[in-house]
Amino acid sequence: MLSNFKQGLRGTERLNQQGAFQGVPSAPAVPRGAQQPRTTQPSPRTTRVATRVARVPTEPRVDAEKDLTSPLHTFEASTLDMPTGRDVESISDTEEWKALQEHVKEINTTHLRDLLRDEGRCMNLIKESEGIYCDLSRQRITNKTSELLMKLANKANLKDKIEAMFSGEHINSTEDRAALHVATRARRDQSIVVDGRDVVPDVWEVLDKIKDFSNKVRSGEWKGVTGKPLKNVVAIGIGGSFLGPLFVHTALRTEPIAAMESEGRTLRFLANVDPIDVARALKDMNPEETLVVVVSKTFTTAETMLNARTVRKWLIAQLGPDAVAKHMVAVSTNLKLVKEFGIDPENAFGFWDWVGGRYSVCSAVGMLPLALEYGFDLMEEFLLGANSIDDHFRLMPLEDNLPVLLGLMSVWNVSFLGYPARAILPYCQALSKLAPHIQQVSMESNGKGVDINGHPLPFESGEIDSGEPGTNGQHSFYQLIHQGRVVPCDFIGIVRSQQSVYLKGEIVSNHDELMSNFFAQADALAYDKPPEQLRSENVPDFLIPHKTFTGNRPSISIMLPACTARTVGQILALYEHRVAVQGFIWGINSFDQWGVELGKVLASKVRTTMHQSRTKSRTVSITDGFNYSTTRMMNKYLEGKTQMLYPEGHDTFPVDSLP
Ligand code: F6P
Repeated sequence: MLSNFKQGLRGTERLNQQGAFQGVPSAPAVPRGAQQPRTTQPSPRTTRVATRVARVPTEPRVDAEKDLTSPLHTFEASTLDMPTGRDVESISDTEEWKALQEHVKEINTTHLRDLLRDEGRCMNLIKESEGIYCDLSRQRITNKTSELLMKLANKANLKDKIEAMFSGEHINSTEDRAALHVATRARRDQSIVVDGRDVVPDVWEVLDKIKDFSNKVRSGEWKGVTGKPLKNVVAIGIGGSFLGPLFVHTALRTEPIAAMESEGRTLRFLANVDPIDVARALKDMNPEETLVVVVSKTFTTAETMLNARTVRKWLIAQLGPDAVAKHMVAVSTNLKLVKEFGIDPENAFGFWDWVGGRYSVCSAVGMLPLALEYGFDLMEEFLLGANSIDDHFRLMPLEDNLPVLLGLMSVWNVSFLGYPARAILPYCQALSKLAPHIQQVSMESNGKGVDINGHPLPFESGEIDSGEPGTNGQHSFYQLIHQGRVVPCDFIGIVRSQQSVYLKGEIVSNHDELMSNFFAQADALAYDKPPEQLRSENVPDFLIPHKTFTGNRPSISIMLPACTARTVGQILALYEHRVAVQGFIWGINSFDQWGVELGKVLASKVRTTMHQSRTKSRTVSITDGFNYSTTRMMNKYLEGKTQMLYPEGHDTFPVDSLP
């Protein structure tokens, strides 16, 4: 590990001589067998260093100073001048940040049309690694920007923060936890230590259990209570217990191997507590052939637990109480609550508090439902894909490190150029759920108001993410990104499509047609179409302002060789780590989510009042503690439903008994 660390420092030295991103030959991908052995225990020194990454340091900072040969020395030395406690320096107070702010003036005199003429620049900004082609040349950056961004990364101790994450340090300081989702896709021969324990055997114990169970269900050895094989799965969960698995499922459905493996099987998700979602998830499902997987890290999430109780009733109503043992299994870190719910702990698949919900798709959260649908072996390919990017992220020098470069582009766009949003635009229908998943990964992680030490951020963190697959997005919101606001775009293209259509008489295949748009859109955003050009095209004067394009709108183009289980794992890990890089630079905790709590507490108060109002037939009043607006709105709502199902509820499936 230490020599890997040195590798990063050597990259930094090179940077200082030559300027970042340029003149640095891409390091070859690290061959699997040739990787550095992972340490089994974090050294006391490592622990101390990484703790400092996450918390205000309190202990004397002398160790690395004394040992000038330590590879940790550079990191320690750069943090030594950081004030502690309430005086802790924000990254925005540093010379490196200010230099970038100053540099914006220079960038504002450039235009992408001209920057794209410089082939040397473009060459330096095109990176290829792990089979992923990544073109940053349509970012509003010059070689100098790259150099300044690398200096910022070094100032933020990025390399050391990455290492702290991989070393199982408690970088999620407000919850006093590691953020070690990388361990959920560790290879069996790896060793990753959290709190003194190598967790890789634990991870594989659960994966082996998933393999065994999914094989039994898929082969029909595990039968339902009436003796029928279980060919349907309903996965109940929300947020991180839903979006990642949905993304992967959507990505694989039409992939030929995955399609073959899932022949005759159905996987559905039930996330929203809206009874419409219940109705849709259960529609035409034969309970005799249905396995329900309740996925919840905490096993307390209100929506998930109500949906779980709803579906449990649905099963019992039709198959009797014994159905639960054969038709319901769980994924959770809270095995006590799983048992209390009535699911046999033998049928529970655990994970750990060091896996954040939104980072949990590679744990049993995603692996169980997806292995049931596609078979464990294919899903292992998905894990290996994610693992390949983990290795890349940990070992590659910063200037060739894809998640680092992508993260730095985001920081540049958000914090210096002032573009708060990002569009995720896969030119691949199979990736249609990437944007919703990354919305949670990115916005729940980096939408913070304070830094990791609890001090208000002097700048805004996070990006507003959204997106749709091309070409659908083109016929929807691209007007705004071409002529309205500047929204940096991620274009994601695929070389070999999962499906092939090429009609006789057409000049291109359907996939070529799709990809023609992928190539065209990035340039359409970058280049301008000025009034002179329009005039030369005989555009009437009154239309010229409407048809003018200012261009200079940044984008990133990413190309994957195919959309397979492996590359889906790669793209997932690429975005996860990009988000971490942004948080590490901004100096925030990307692994907690306190902002989601307040709404849950208020909803609980509303729920109690609603119950009283229903059962005691009374209206809500200001004395219930709500403001005028909410009180009035609730009464309007309750009045409109007085005829329905109340005061006594009764079980209805699906919700079809409303008058
Ligand atoms: O409310 C947000 C959240 O806590 C997410 O972070 C999480 O992914 C989701 O709820 C679901 O939580 P659980 O898996 O515990 O049900």
